[in-house]
Amino acid sequence: MAKRIVLTSDHAGFRLKEFLKKDLIEKGYVVVDDNPVLEEGDDYPDRVFSAAPKVKHDQGIFVCGTGIGMCIAANKEKGIIAADCSMPKEAHLARAHNNANVLCLGARLLTRDQAKRIMYTFLKTSFEGGRHARRVEKLA
Ligand code: RB5
Repeated sequence: MAKRIVLTSDHAGFRLKEFLKKDLIEKGYVVVDDNPVLEEGDDYPDRVFSAAPKVKHDQGIFVCGTGIGMCIAANKEKGIIAADCSMPKEAHLARAHNNANVLCLGARLLTRDQAKRIMYTFLKTSFEGGRHARRVEKLA
């Protein structure tokens, strides 16, 4: 079964999240948008605590102004390993070494093109396992 991509954002990340959602759908990804309606002045912890339980065995893309708030909140949720990435190399390593299942992006810090490249690097990279598996198991 195709993996679902669970999307969410606060007000600051909403437009970038919509842009990424459109691109994912065009490429055939199965997308679950947990926050499809823009709510000005909403709070990133509320958005994360609603979306994170839906990630389960799938992957999430969470967008706020910096990516930082989303990442802090997401890492409080059991089963979530979230990484705030500002370049494709970080996204690659977050998957390959840390087995991150949520990518956090900063809409106020990234161009749309940068965000897209980071996102697809994240989605196309597999966990390497091996010595990294032992380390990741210690996070549970
Ligand atoms: C909202 O203004 C902003 O603080 C939020 O999107 C995020 O950047 C927090 O980390």
